[in-house]
Amino acid sequence: MIILGIETSCDETAVAVTQDGRIILSDLLSSQIDLHRKYGGVVPELACRRHIEVIGFLIREAVEKSGRSYEQLDAIAVTMGPGLIGALLVGVSTAKSLAYALKLPLLGIHHLEGHISAAFIEHNDIIFPAIALVVSGGHTNLYYMPKRGKYRLLGKTIDDAAGEILDKGARMLGYSYPGGPVIDRLAQKGDPDRISFPRPYRSSLNSDFSFSGLKTSLMHTLSKMGKKPEDYVSSHPDIAAGYQAAIVDTLVEKTFSAVEQENIKSVLLVGGVAANSLLREQFILMGERLGVAVYIPSSRLCTDNGAMIAMAGLSHLEENYFASLDLNPSPHLELMS
Ligand code: KG4
Ligand code: ZN
Repeated sequence: MIILGIETSCDETAVAVTQDGRIILSDLLSSQIDLHRKYGGVVPELACRRHIEVIGFLIREAVEKSGRSYEQLDAIAVTMGPGLIGALLVGVSTAKSLAYALKLPLLGIHHLEGHISAAFIEHNDIIFPAIALVVSGGHTNLYYMPKRGKYRLLGKTIDDAAGEILDKGARMLGYSYPGGPVIDRLAQKGDPDRISFPRPYRSSLNSDFSFSGLKTSLMHTLSKMGKKPEDYVSSHPDIAAGYQAAIVDTLVEKTFSAVEQENIKSVLLVGGVAANSLLREQFILMGERLGVAVYIPSSRLCTDNGAMIAMAGLSHLEENYFASLDLNPSPHLELMS
């Protein structure tokens, strides 16, 4: 099955053509990072306009690079939510037009199902029941999956998402968006024990997360050090390492205590923050310790991409679960089985 996957939920226009989900024939991405950098975060109206400008070219190039023709496509998969409404609209309208013109099935994909599906691109041996932790710029959601395509939400963040807290932390240190990769890089040279940060919500019995207190703690730490980020630049690696360790510890502890409670066989770690080196390392270590298989997509498939949407589309296609041409994007869509 040849599927065209389109992702435009936030600040990346991503398009891929895949064969049977696992063979990525082409995978293109137009990042808007430079466009939003000076504002310190994503500006919805600008994001939407940039998607409009690039999506046509990107699709044409992705199909060309895939070595297949439009006639050889079997379906069009597109992110239908959650995300920025204007941005989603661009992807959904384009996908609908293509599906109509080419007389192809349309598949409406939940963005988080896309992230979870990224784990299936490189692994076809995932055993259930599984726990999936989706950590991105907008979400920190923990799901119980009795089988592929079935999701029960166990917990989520009650305030900021893990990616958001990394982005905001880096910004306080004077670095630009996105901050996750910056913190990751700085932390590798730092001592996580020199400056300690609270492990938020770690001891509570449910699986919800809360990260906003960590931001306040960072603010206090910095105000004790100096007025401007340049005043304590030599401490940036230690600050980043301590801050990152607090987030990683919390994510690891919450996820693996759910693993122990639910007799789980596999753990999936997905979403942009799953590209984080320490988080990947700690999940693998805990998996080995507890005897559960841990699956993490390679880094480039953790952040938003079109191949994960195409992969999720394949399972919809196999289940005959199609979207109709009156599909509308939903900015606050919940993931349900
Ligand atoms: O999944 P994603 O690409 O977009 C959303 O759906 O939000 O995730 C983006 C998030 C950003 O917050 C970014 O800082 C974070 O993923 N991120 C990382 C790393 N690479 C990207 N966080 C920590 N370490 C990284 N290496
Ligand atoms: Zn995402």
